[in-house]
Amino acid sequence: MKKLLVSVLLLICSSLSATQVLVFAGSLRSGSYNKLLAKEAAELARAEGADVVYIDLRDLPMPFYDADLETSEGLPENAKKLRDLMMASDAVIIASPQYNESVSSVLKNAIDWVSRGEDGRASKAAFKGKKFALMSASPRKKGGAKGLSHLRIILDDCGADVIEPETSIRFADQAFDSEGHLVDSETLTLLQQQIQVLLQTLR
Ligand SMILES: Cc1cc2nc3c(=O)[nH]c(=O)nc-3n(C[C@H](O)[C@H](O)[C@H](O)COP(=O)(O)O)c2cc1C
Repeated sequence: MKKLLVSVLLLICSSLSATQVLVFAGSLRSGSYNKLLAKEAAELARAEGADVVYIDLRDLPMPFYDADLETSEGLPENAKKLRDLMMASDAVIIASPQYNESVSSVLKNAIDWVSRGEDGRASKAAFKGKKFALMSASPRKKGGAKGLSHLRIILDDCGADVIEPETSIRFADQAFDSEGHLVDSETLTLLQQQIQVLLQTLR
């Protein structure tokens, strides 16, 4: 009986101490390469023992940030949901597409909303004290790396701690197999190393 109690306590302690990681992509597209990359990163983080929540921003549609709407109605329900999920996480992994050399409007809009508090003022609560890991996938030859430099600036301003390295998957249209996994083992290793760095910074 005593042994059972100790095992149960140990189990509770280990589950309490697991690192909470939120993963999402800045794309809505069903065939998104960034969603594939985000899911691959989520699997790797799970394999490293993290408690991972993967979300699809398509499931959390938000209006464009509008200060008038914020004043009249407060934070939209889905912005609140994303903000709560981020606040409950130790780390956030974002796979960001690159649009016209920068981040997608979907991702920027989501960040703008979650950078607001329920009191209608700027809030860093969803970012501060959390580690962020950034990655991108693009069918083009630079893999969307430029967009990540913009994303880093945006997140820095929100109070996030963005780790190095980043991962950019170029020629993403050929990078995944039919099951959605990265084909190239070296790329997979680089992604795994990035996830390990992210989790080590929290241990
Ligand atoms: C409006 C627009 C702008 C784009 N600009 C870039 C760009 O600057 N650099 C790049 O590598 N790819 C660019 N692309 C291609 C995207 O990387 C490609 O559509 C990618 O598949 C989007 O990510 P997803 O697969 O996760 O949806 C652009 C695509 C669109 C629709």
